[in-house]
Amino acid sequence: MSRRMPGRFKFFIGGTALGALIGYYLSKPKQLKEWPPITSTKEKEWPPRVPINLEYPGPINDAFPRKAYYASYNRRLRHPNWVFEHLTKDSLQAGENVDRKFSKFLEDPEIPAIFNAKLVDYFKSGYDRGHMAPAADAKTSQEALNETFYLTNIAPQVGNGFNRDYWAFLEEFCRRLVRQELFTDVYVFTGPAYLPKEENGKWYVKYQLIGDPPNVSVPTHYFKVILAVKEDNNSPNGKLYALGCFLLPNQYIPRDTKLTDYLVPLNALERATGLRFFENLQEKTVPLCEKTKCALVPPSKWIDSNSREKLLTDQGPKD
Ligand SMILES: *[C@@H]1O[C@H](CO)[C@@H](O)[C@H](O)[C@H]1NC(C)=O
Ligand SMILES: *[C@@H]1O[C@H](CO)[C@@H](O)[C@H](O)[C@H]1NC(C)=O
Repeated sequence: MSRRMPGRFKFFIGGTALGALIGYYLSKPKQLKEWPPITSTKEKEWPPRVPINLEYPGPINDAFPRKAYYASYNRRLRHPNWVFEHLTKDSLQAGENVDRKFSKFLEDPEIPAIFNAKLVDYFKSGYDRGHMAPAADAKTSQEALNETFYLTNIAPQVGNGFNRDYWAFLEEFCRRLVRQELFTDVYVFTGPAYLPKEENGKWYVKYQLIGDPPNVSVPTHYFKVILAVKEDNNSPNGKLYALGCFLLPNQYIPRDTKLTDYLVPLNALERATGLRFFENLQEKTVPLCEKTKCALVPPSKWIDSNSREKLLTDQGPKD
């Protein structure tokens, strides 16, 4: 995976006097603190000339290029905005003696304390520390695996029937695209989402915060946007681009629920998250579920050992 994210990130900066100002800037690893360049044709000068030193207030895109993934962290919600992975046969090879039993969940030392997710926030919260880039995708080295345990790669997930079950099968589905379906490159964006719910004819987004005082937001949903690529002589430029977008509620999901029940149009997810995925490629893609069977196949043995393993490692420490 490239150490820098391809593409550009767009941010809106609100200002009453100014109206909306759209800043474009290239992603750089770590914190971006400079004022974004102006693209509006109406405003010529920003920051305005005032007799104080006007610091850029944010939002800051805390970006973490790591061995097996790239994470963008959200300081307000205290979990990732999204995490990106590039899965290949090589990236899924397990290194010698690499084992999650040697890894520990870690607070990320690079996030300022007041914005950081803490281990105590998850402690006895009732939620699992859910990996966005799964540990099982990062077995090439102990260091790569360890890095998936930073809380900047973690968000609160319902344990029973979700993190330890259905969601884990979806993670396995992504690996299977490489291992069984022979896609050479599988690109995955994973992240939390907050969806509105109707109550008495009005729409609200309602979510819990965990920690005392409350620190970490609990997403209502989680998404995976999967772009699977392989050679294909019948496709225009010799490559097949298959795209699938899944949005799952952060709750118990019965194992026999069809994965296709959670397929959503990419632009619906984009509207919900304010993010754009694979923008330049969208035109070229075909639906993933037309090119492969979008079904979860949890082998019974795998379920038992994996849920037990997940139970031991993903749950907050007990008392
Ligand atoms: C978050 O957790 C830390 C450590 O428990 C605490 O000091 C802090 O006040 C909490 N709340 C916020 C909003 O940072
Ligand atoms: C992995 O994490 C464990 C626990 O924090 C640590 O003891 C070990 O040195 C780490 N290994 C590597 C290769 O970073």
